Amino acid sequence: MTIRALHVASELYPLLKTGGLADVAGALPPALIERGADVRVLLPGFPAVAAGLADLRPVAQLAHPLGHRGSLSHATLELGTLPANGISVYMIRDDALYDRPGNPYLDAEHVPYGDNAQRFALLGWTAAQLAQRADPAWAPQIIHAHDWHAGLAPAYLKAAERAAGRTFARTVFTVHNLAYQGIFPAQEFGHLALPGDFFSMHGVEFYGQLSFLKAGLYYSDRLTTVSPTYAREIQTLAQGGGLDALLRARTHDLSGILNGVDYTVWNPSIDDGLAARYTSTRLPGKRACKTALQARFGLAQKSDALLFGVVSRLTEQKGLDLLLGALPEIVSRGGQLVVLGTGDPALEAGLLRVAHAHPDAVAVERGFDEPLAHAIVAGSDVIAVPSRFEPCGLTQLYALAYGSLPLVHRVGGLADTVVDASLENLADDLATGFVFERFEPDALAAAIRRAFALYARRGEWKAAQQRAMRQDFGWGASAQRYLDLYRSLV
Ligand code: ADP
Ligand code: GLC
Repeated sequence: MTIRALHVASELYPLLKTGGLADVAGALPPALIERGADVRVLLPGFPAVAAGLADLRPVAQLAHPLGHRGSLSHATLELGTLPANGISVYMIRDDALYDRPGNPYLDAEHVPYGDNAQRFALLGWTAAQLAQRADPAWAPQIIHAHDWHAGLAPAYLKAAERAAGRTFARTVFTVHNLAYQGIFPAQEFGHLALPGDFFSMHGVEFYGQLSFLKAGLYYSDRLTTVSPTYAREIQTLAQGGGLDALLRARTHDLSGILNGVDYTVWNPSIDDGLAARYTSTRLPGKRACKTALQARFGLAQKSDALLFGVVSRLTEQKGLDLLLGALPEIVSRGGQLVVLGTGDPALEAGLLRVAHAHPDAVAVERGFDEPLAHAIVAGSDVIAVPSRFEPCGLTQLYALAYGSLPLVHRVGGLADTVVDASLENLADDLATGFVFERFEPDALAAAIRRAFALYARRGEWKAAQQRAMRQDFGWGASAQRYLDLYRSLV
């Protein structure tokens, strides 16, 4: 039996991306389709989405209850295709809510838009409408909602099912990051057109406020998160973001399914943007990438300087404040560092200060630049991901594919994907990177020293690189697990 599933998300590579969620929304649907599912995607009609879809045509007028003062507002449900792979994508056209340039969540001052509750409620509401045949030609049996932006989809569906006395679809909710909860003042609930009793501890209420994330966790039939370790971590008081009790209560419905890599996008043997292409058996191309990267950033052209790379959102989560403290260790040992990222101004300023003090060794570029991200992953010897917490993390998986050994904190998906270059792991041919246990300066510094020590033993370094490149983190196994989950529901 072919299963029809609708993925509901706020971003999707290559249309619009601020982080790994977009990579997953772009790669998981085609992987499911390859395994026989009938999958479509629903996105808000942000400018980049409307501009990037082909053959857009209206399929339904939506008179939705999310306008002002209880009156009905109008939006259009449109259907188009992704030029890259022909995937069918529904888009909600509501220019008053979505036609804004730049970041999909924040205004030009980096402040969340004042109407975000309404903007993302419409996303969830429309998903529930699709399950009720808003498009007469196609209705999903599974609604697969991603992160808080889509968290109200299962709530609207449950409300509609209760009113109709029947089931329209089953729901899966994936937590990509428990730190972003979509919390709004309680009075916003009055504008959502949900049944009044949904605003309770057994519902969308969270310590007196409205939580979109909790709605997803409470009303969905199944919950997943993006790595097995993170699935355990979020059930603890320390890492449950106030939702650990709910997650523990739902432990039998919760599983961790590791994200995959789209090897058509992240593959050094076919990556057109690189200075040279390479494989695990033809590594000289990687050296050319390193030389090009050093030139691009004005670093000393030393082929034997151990080059660390960072491609990251600069937020508390990513732990780059700890790395900043370890920079003297890297520089004094003759290493180099390249950083690409945007976010926290204080962190940006701190990194730029070190770059000004050591222009031969440290370079920082602010911004979001996909081709440059590939160039850094390819040209670095080590990719550092010292996150405080990391639901899955894709950067370390890309690093493995490019033979750049990841240096990571042992949390979440980082713990599930990188094997430390300890003596015993090296002896057993298992090491693929550098892993530190405690989020403390001395633990990070020790991992950095392990990287320098291994780099001095070139044969073993090359063996670890080749092992890293041979790891298979493709979507195959994980897409199959999602499919099994869907089958268990319909
Ligand atoms: P998160 O989703 O928490 O940001 P992930 O590691 O899952 O972390 O995914 C990050 C994704 O965003 C990767 O594809 C990475 O290459 C990309 N990325 C992060 N920062 C930048 C940037 N400044 N420029 C280009 N790509 C970036
Ligand atoms: C989130 C997480 C990251 C994960 C990504 C995709 O942004 O921070 O760890 O890889 O989502 O699931």
